[in-house]
Amino acid sequence: MAAEPTTPQSFDVVVIGAGPAGYIAAIRAAQLGLTTACVEQWKTPQGEYALGGTCLNVGCIPSKALLESSENYERVLHKFAVHGITTKGVELDLAKMLDRKDKIVQKMTGGIAGLFKKNKVTWLKGRGKLLSGGTTWKVEVAGDKGLEVVEAKNVILATGSRPRQLAGVTVDNDLVCDNEGALSFKAVPENLGVIGAGVIGLELGSVWRRLGSKVTILEAVPEFLAAADQAVSQEAWRMFTGEQQLDIQLGVNIASVKVDAKKRRVVVEYKSPDGTAKKAEFDRLIVSVGRVPNTGDLGAENVGLKIDARGCVEVDKNCRSGLPRLYAIGDIVRGPMLAHKGEDEGVMVAEIIAGQHGHVNYDAIPWVIYTAPEIAWVGKTEQQLKAEGIAYRTGRFPFAYNGRALGRDEPEGFIKMLADATTDRILGVHAIGGQASELIAEAVVAMEFGASSEDIARICHAHPSMSEVMRESALALDKRSLNG
Ligand code: FAD
Ligand code: NAI
Repeated sequence: MAAEPTTPQSFDVVVIGAGPAGYIAAIRAAQLGLTTACVEQWKTPQGEYALGGTCLNVGCIPSKALLESSENYERVLHKFAVHGITTKGVELDLAKMLDRKDKIVQKMTGGIAGLFKKNKVTWLKGRGKLLSGGTTWKVEVAGDKGLEVVEAKNVILATGSRPRQLAGVTVDNDLVCDNEGALSFKAVPENLGVIGAGVIGLELGSVWRRLGSKVTILEAVPEFLAAADQAVSQEAWRMFTGEQQLDIQLGVNIASVKVDAKKRRVVVEYKSPDGTAKKAEFDRLIVSVGRVPNTGDLGAENVGLKIDARGCVEVDKNCRSGLPRLYAIGDIVRGPMLAHKGEDEGVMVAEIIAGQHGHVNYDAIPWVIYTAPEIAWVGKTEQQLKAEGIAYRTGRFPFAYNGRALGRDEPEGFIKMLADATTDRILGVHAIGGQASELIAEAVVAMEFGASSEDIARICHAHPSMSEVMRESALALDKRSLNG
């Protein structure tokens, strides 16, 4: 007798991908009373299905755990003496440091599983694919238990991104690593090479330098940190290549990457900007040359979904794909590849599906680079304002004049504020210094509320606090700094 066909599970919303964009979309949709499922294929090295995507498993969370641990190590070794604290016999227990990082990851990813239960989001374990559209979407889920097809009124694609590969370079996550391998070296490399002086190169390069590696970063573009305000990138360059001794070489052209498995060495041949052929030998290499969206195997062709030349799903400002009730959010769509940008898109789309008016202000998305000192900004850079012909005024104030910064032994860096020359509306804020990742939140709030620099200048800031530098930078814009 033929088996009875089973009725497919049916949901108001199916989200494909449970990174920060997808899991937040799923939780918000469920909060709004929509029956919601989230398809996720991620497996831990132990073979368990896991939520959280790149960010929680091999991105933001583990990298920040290691940045904190390695910064503590560096402090004990080199920054305690000035406080009158002498240390002896300091030792690094790398296995313990990595274990702490792994436990934080487990706690965070497990936390999402708990949030799914609490909010009644169904977790469908496996690979999701669009089969067909129309009034109802059909999504295939290929998991350990076989194939399942579920139905959805709305689908949100949130499949994230993966490391971009360099032609001719095989990442084995042993000697040649992407972010995944670079977060788990079992020993501190003596000579670490990094290709790409972007966010990952600088953050993970900093981690291993602090733990004892000699770090060489090879960057194709002749400018350093071109996306940041030039004043900030110049200050960062001075500190990273000076005191911190990161060997950053700009404008290079990588010719080949060869692995000598016997000697456990990676040989990189490259050309410097003047055309000189160079060769460098490393015991580990990190390739961090950007990320590409995961849109290749989504079933786009089954439903006529448009993918652009960079591999992103084409969407409008509300993350609508152009096909009815099909949305895409996070790293697979235009805009910066940042967790909080994806999260905000997740909330927006869930609210739109529920009939509300979701919105993301793409002009007020902060950027943070978690080096020491930290780098953070929101809004336009000075070079962007110049290129756009916008008249602006600048205020800048150094942490060196701030009592709290001196007390914390973090006198480096500054905050720079840019405001419209006529209206005084804040157009951009750029910080390099201790706590910049936290301080930038004030600037984001100010920009969201359309504040002027005068608004910041007149707000009472606690004393002594690093946040006073934000106020002083606003005062500096009007040439009336009070402490410098
Ligand atoms: P992802 O987090 O990539 O999640 C997508 C999920 O979809 C994955 O779990 C994947 O398994 C799943 N998936 C893919 N295809 C399918 C399918 N067909 N079926 C089912 N599931 C599927 N950003 C910050 O804002 N701050 C930081 O400090 C920061 N640090 C970072 C550090 C590193 C080392 C890296 C690599 C990235 C970092 N990022 C950071 C970037 C951040 O991780 C991404 O912007 C963010 O994870 C994007 O979220 P997402 O949900 O779009 O995609
Ligand atoms: P990235 O785009 O930040 O930097 C890649 C760098 O590699 C660029 O400077 C680029 O010019 C360079 N490059 C490209 N091809 C090259 C080549 N052939 N040879 C030498 N250099 C080359 O990308 P990255 O560092 O891989 O990080 C990916 C993304 O992850 C970031 O753009 C960011 O969106 C996100 N991320 C965010 C973090 C944060 O918010 N703190 C931390 C880490 C990653």
